[in-house]
Amino acid sequence: MSKTPVRYRHIAGFTLLVTYIVMLLGAYTSAIGAGLSCPDWPTCYGTWVPFLQPEIITNSPYSALQIFAEWAHRGLAMTAGVLIVGTTVGAWVTHRNTPIVKWSATAALVLLPLQVILGGLTVTEDLQPIIVTTHLGVAILILLCLLTTCLVAYLRR
Ligand code: HEM
Repeated sequence: MSKTPVRYRHIAGFTLLVTYIVMLLGAYTSAIGAGLSCPDWPTCYGTWVPFLQPEIITNSPYSALQIFAEWAHRGLAMTAGVLIVGTTVGAWVTHRNTPIVKWSATAALVLLPLQVILGGLTVTEDLQPIIVTTHLGVAILILLCLLTTCLVAYLRR
């Protein structure tokens, strides 16, 4: 059994936390009716940072808060994506002898592109219920994979 490096446990824990916050922000976006407040994808009103052009916010039928929630959900999801890549690479480097850590992190990484595509389809297909529901389902699977990675990494330290 390999000794878990302190840093890896912390990276895995941080990735879990950020992914959880992405999910909460997604639920908030949905709850305030902001799912289509960025009507295009991957950009938002044809730009990466709509807040740099105040006329976009003024002319939108959505409030600044709604646009911010959807935009922040996408942005934080990108950060979570980078962290998931790092967590998976880290698992293979530091946990060569702990298959559950390696493979649960890898499963999260495999689900990630699917989740990004589903997120895009959520917007381009006008919040079709089956797509929104699948987006939520895959999010839960990713969180479960990361929770497994994190818990086992902590327990094996
Ligand atoms: C790590 C990646 C992601 C995770 C874990 C995630 C998770 C979630 C969750 C849990 C919800 C709430 C679902 C609900 O309440 O039914 C949500 C909503 C949403 N997500 Fe994501 N998401 C991710 C990436 C993306 C991306 C890249 C987009 C790109 C556009 C996106 C677009 C949306 C939209 C538009 C909603 C609101 C749907 C609605 O109004 O009902 N998501 N997301």
